[in-house]
Amino acid sequence: MKTIAFTNQKGGVGKTTSAVTVAAAAAERGADVLVVDLDAQGSSTELFLGRAPEGLGLSDVLAGGGRWADAVVTGREPGAIGEGSGRIDVLPATEGLTLFEESLAESGDLWAVGKLVASVRKSDRYGLCVVDCPPAIGRLSLNAVAGADLIVAPVTLSSLSMRGIVRLRQMVDAVEGALGEVPRVLYLPCAVDARYSETAEFLDVLHQAFGYYPEGDVLPAVRTSSAASRSYARALTAVEYRPDGRLADDYRAVLDTLSEHGSLALPSPAAA
Ligand SMILES: Nc1ncnc2c1ncn2[C@@H]1O[C@H](COP(=O)(O)OP(=O)(O)O)[C@@H](O)[C@H]1O
Ligand SMILES: [Mg+2]
Repeated sequence: MKTIAFTNQKGGVGKTTSAVTVAAAAAERGADVLVVDLDAQGSSTELFLGRAPEGLGLSDVLAGGGRWADAVVTGREPGAIGEGSGRIDVLPATEGLTLFEESLAESGDLWAVGKLVASVRKSDRYGLCVVDCPPAIGRLSLNAVAGADLIVAPVTLSSLSMRGIVRLRQMVDAVEGALGEVPRVLYLPCAVDARYSETAEFLDVLHQAFGYYPEGDVLPAVRTSSAASRSYARALTAVEYRPDGRLADDYRAVLDTLSEHGSLALPSPAAA
């Protein structure tokens, strides 16, 4: 099982859209997926579960107040995203995450998420774990960086977002300073609109700075699509809402590229 943390301290860049759509694309390929919702706003929890559930939540588990397996809620049953699709389970966000983050800041702990992920991996229940991060460089995001195998930073092509990349790198470097080692950081251009010449320029800058994956760190871009907000409004991922649309296709391409080059291990596309 590999764990991808979708992170960027900026809000509205596509973290949640990327996390839930990659999760759905992987389930479609036959993988069982766990979605860990680290954002107290609970957007990915709401998408998969309709509403935030009562009972044990992620903050309880992270704080050592319960077993992760008891907090897991079924988001999609096996077969729900097409024949042979895997299940999507959710470790739901709870309001307690905000308080928990404060306690992390006091203790300085960087391994709360890493320990959870290690325990999930040991259970051998999932082929992929995706972590949807809050829009801040707080202790929760640092924990996600420390505990993941791969960091995917969705970026939109505005100068603000480009400055965000620099700060993200600083966050990763801070974790590296504390732990000695950090996962690879890949950049995912999101909501790319080819009608604007600025878009091409920003993509150029990004590619010049980081290079194309797999040698470099920029993943194939996800185009802008109304399916992003429309699917979310129906509590569906784009893979479910518009399976032959370009948003679903672009995220499948991202997933397949990662899988082809060994950044993820998933059932082969032919098996789906
Ligand atoms: N490829 C896309 N095309 C158009 N809109 C998008 C795309 N990806 C995300 N969005 C929209 O951008 C907004 C922010 O996306 P979201 O995934 O919630 O970002 P974050 O989790 O980083 O705050 C949402 O309204 C979402 O529907
Ligand atoms: Mg979000």
